[in-house]
This record gives sequence, C-alpha cells and structure tokens, in this order.
Amino acid sequence: MIMPPFFSTWWDTQAVTALSFVALWLLLFLMARILGVQEAKRLRFLGVLLLIQVLLGLAATAAYDPLAKGFRVLPFLAGLLAVGVGIGLFNSLVLGLLLGRFQRSVPTVLRQVLSVLAILAGAIVLLAHQGLDVKALLPTGAVLTAVVGLALQQTLGNLIGGLSIQLDKSVRVGDWVQVEGLYGRVSAIRWRSSTLETNDYESIVVPNAQLLAAKLLVRGRRGGEETAWRHWVRFRLAFSAPPAEVVQLALQALRAEAVPGVAAFPAPDCVLVAMEEGTALYALRYWLTDFVNDDATDSAVRMRLFYALRRAGFEPAMPAQQVTVQRPSAEAQEAEAKARHAARERALRGMELFAKLKDDELSGLAGELRELPYAPGEPLCRQGEAADSLYILEQGRVSVQVASDGGESEVAQLGPGAFFGEMGLMTGEPRNATVRATGHVQALRLEKPAFQRLLLRRPELAEAIAEVLAERRAKNEQARESLDQATRDSRQRQHRGQFLARIRDYFGYRA
Ligand code: CMP
Repeated sequence: MIMPPFFSTWWDTQAVTALSFVALWLLLFLMARILGVQEAKRLRFLGVLLLIQVLLGLAATAAYDPLAKGFRVLPFLAGLLAVGVGIGLFNSLVLGLLLGRFQRSVPTVLRQVLSVLAILAGAIVLLAHQGLDVKALLPTGAVLTAVVGLALQQTLGNLIGGLSIQLDKSVRVGDWVQVEGLYGRVSAIRWRSSTLETNDYESIVVPNAQLLAAKLLVRGRRGGEETAWRHWVRFRLAFSAPPAEVVQLALQALRAEAVPGVAAFPAPDCVLVAMEEGTALYALRYWLTDFVNDDATDSAVRMRLFYALRRAGFEPAMPAQQVTVQRPSAEAQEAEAKARHAARERALRGMELFAKLKDDELSGLAGELRELPYAPGEPLCRQGEAADSLYILEQGRVSVQVASDGGESEVAQLGPGAFFGEMGLMTGEPRNATVRATGHVQALRLEKPAFQRLLLRRPELAEAIAEVLAERRAKNEQARESLDQATRDSRQRQHRGQFLARIRDYFGYRA
C-alpha cells in the first residue's frame, strides 16, 4: 500500500521522536516524585517544555510543505526547544544528580554560561539547517567588539566576577561575609549578582563585579578552614583597677558557666588594649560559634562581664574628654550608704532565722554583708566547691540544682528573704548543690568569720539553722533516693542532732 505523503512524513520523522519524548516525559514525572523539592520542580518544568516541544513538532510536521521556501518558524522553535530541554536534562541529571553523588559540583554561573552558549550554538545550527547564511547575520568583528565593549561591559564584568568567585572558591554559598559595611550569609551566587541574607531578615543583592572589586571579609574561615569567629568585647575601667585582676575576673566571668554561642576551644582571652584618655581599655575576646546570634551572644558576654566587675567593685570608666563631673556630695554619699544599710537590716529582720536578734545585733550583722549582683543563669555557688559563706537573697530568684544521673535536677526555687549556703558554711563540707540565678539577682554574702562571731554570742541560732539544714538535706535525699514520707521524717530528725553537733564542733563552741 502506498501511503499518502503527509502520513509517510509524519510517521517517519515525528512519530518516533514524539513517542520517545512522551516516554521521556513520563520518566521525568516519575523521577520528580523521588527527588528533592527543588530538583523535582526543575524536572517538572522541563517536562512541560517537552510537552510544548512535542506539540510544536507535530504542528510543524502537519504544516510541512516540501515545496515551500524560506524561513520556517515552527520547526525552528521546536528544534530550539529540543536543544533547551536537552541542556536542562544534562544540567539536572548529569551535572546535578550524578556529580552530586560523587560530592562534586560545577559552579552555577559556569553552568548557566555554558547553557547560554549551547543554546546559541543550537540556534546557529538550526538556522544553518534551514539554509540561512548565518555568517551574514553576524555583525562584523569590529561592530561586535563595540557592542560588547559598550552595552555588555557591566554585565560581562558581573559574569566574569561570578565565574571567578565560584571557580577559585574564594566565596561559597553559606559563607558569612562582610562587604562594604554589609554583613550577611551568602545564600546564592548567580551569573549577575550574589545575594546576602542578613541577621535582620534582609536580602542584599550585590553585583558580582562589586563583590570582587571591594575588600571582602569572609568570617570564620582562614586558610580554607572553617573556624569559629573571634569577637572583641571592649570595656573601659579606671587606672586604679589592677589589670592582672581585671583580666582574671573577665575570664572567670565566662568560665564559671558556659555562655551559649561561645566556643570552649579556642578559649576566650582578655587583653589590655590601650591606656588612653585617662582609662584602661580592655578587650575580652571570645570565639563565636553561632553566627546568627552574634549580637545576642555579645550581649550575654557583656552582661556576665558587667556583673562580675560590679561584684568586684569596679565601675566602668569613660574616656576623659567625655567625663561630666557629677560627684555626689559627701552628705549625699553618706545618705546613700545609710539607706543601703537600712535596706540590708530590713532584709535580715524579715528572716525567721534571725528573728531573735536584737536591733543592735541586726545592725552589726547588716554592716558585715557584701552586696553582690548576678546575671541571669550565673551560678552563685557550685556543687562540690569549698564553702565559706552564707548567701541571703535580697532581690530576684534562684534555682537550687542537684547533680543526678549525669544531669542536674532542680530541688527548690528560692526568692527574696531566703538564705542558702548554710550547709557548707556550718559544717565545712563542700557545697551540696548548685545555686543559679533565674533572673537578675542581688545577693548579700556573709563570710564565715562574721557568722562565727555572731554564733558565739547567740548559740541558739545554731539550733534554728540545724533545723533548716536537716530539712533540706532530707528533701535532697528524698529527691535522689525516692524516699517515702516516714523515712524522710526520720532522717530529718537524725540529721538535726548530727548537724547541731557538727556546727558546734566546726565553730568551736559548746552550748
Ligand atoms: P551549701 O551546700 O553550702 O551550698 C548549696 C546550697 O543550696 C546549700 O548549702 C543549701 O543552702 C541550698 N540547698 C541545698 N538543698 C536545698 C533544698 N532542698 N532546698 C533549699 N535549698 C537547698
């Protein structure tokens, strides 16, 4: 049977292509189901292009007229789409998936440039195939140079910038960079520009040429190695503060309890940066691990520093030219000291422990107390440490935590008016719990010699304290050993007698 020319052309040329494209299309959709979201999206898009390509091909064949002359749009478009889809598939499946398997990648910009060149080459071949004199279409070399030189100058600069950044790997997606005062994480490097995402949820689009022209700072990377990023927290103190003591205090402030985002290794250090403008300028330098929370971590470190310096009695200093002398008068200072003393006395009077003390005894005791502020989360004392002081809470709350099963469990929360640290102070044993500030805390500390003097005058205090000690010890044992109430009560009675004897022994007196 002789087939009509249309049917023969259709069958011979397009049907095989169309069917194989449809099969490929189905394959693409199936693959898209098992791939990651981004890759699946790309493959689905290619599938749609493929469908359009097939329809265009069919339309081109249907409209095929062997006698017609000149440029035919439909076959050209169908061919160009086929080239585009082919390049897309190569990009996704070979360069993306296959190389990804071997942990290799081709820079995005290079991929994009090669794709554009391949499409251009495809277009030229298709045009030549239609009998067009492609050379005649191209402008002369001089014109081309002028066009490239003028119109594409900037674009080419960006393109080459993007290519070189990716090829020499000076900046990678995910790096934290600072360019011209802008700081952010590189989220994409494209052929024209790169995007930085800042910690304030802004996206900054920087042309690649600018990225190369400016001094670029990649944070937390040296010699190609990823590291933490060192932060400098500067502070000023008066010359009267002994530098060795200040350095020690600053380091202690960070060591006492880990601050989230601060690396344990390399360890922080503290340096005396300058002695200028009538003050000593220090820098506490620590290694930041969490680049997203840079300001919050700086703030936590500053807070620790502030409280540690306050506890040691050091006040921040100002550069000499900014000092506005506003010294309070001697009377005002005295009035302030009196008010503080009265507040401490009130705090003591409110405590059951000291209920039996006379006014002059309370006043004497108030004079012995040291005011110590603590930052949220800071430990006031740690389990296992040697103990020689008693704390009274003036402001804020603390959490009492006992080490258990490799972690810490809270056994009590104490608020204003409560005291702690009596166990170690009274018995000479190491601290039996860690006590941490849950917010800003102002504590009053009483050292052992002052307490000893008080106890010698008022031996009955020992009994009240032995009672509290026994109750707390029994409660901790109950938490650790899951005791029932009766056992706890009997232990409490036992402890009371033992504590009283030990207090008398330790403080060297007999009732
Ligand atoms: P000390 O052992 O010197 O140091 C830790 C302090 O935490 C301890 O003294 C008590 O003052 C306090 N402490 C321990 N256990 C409890 C508890 N169960 N309830 C309240 N305070 C406690």
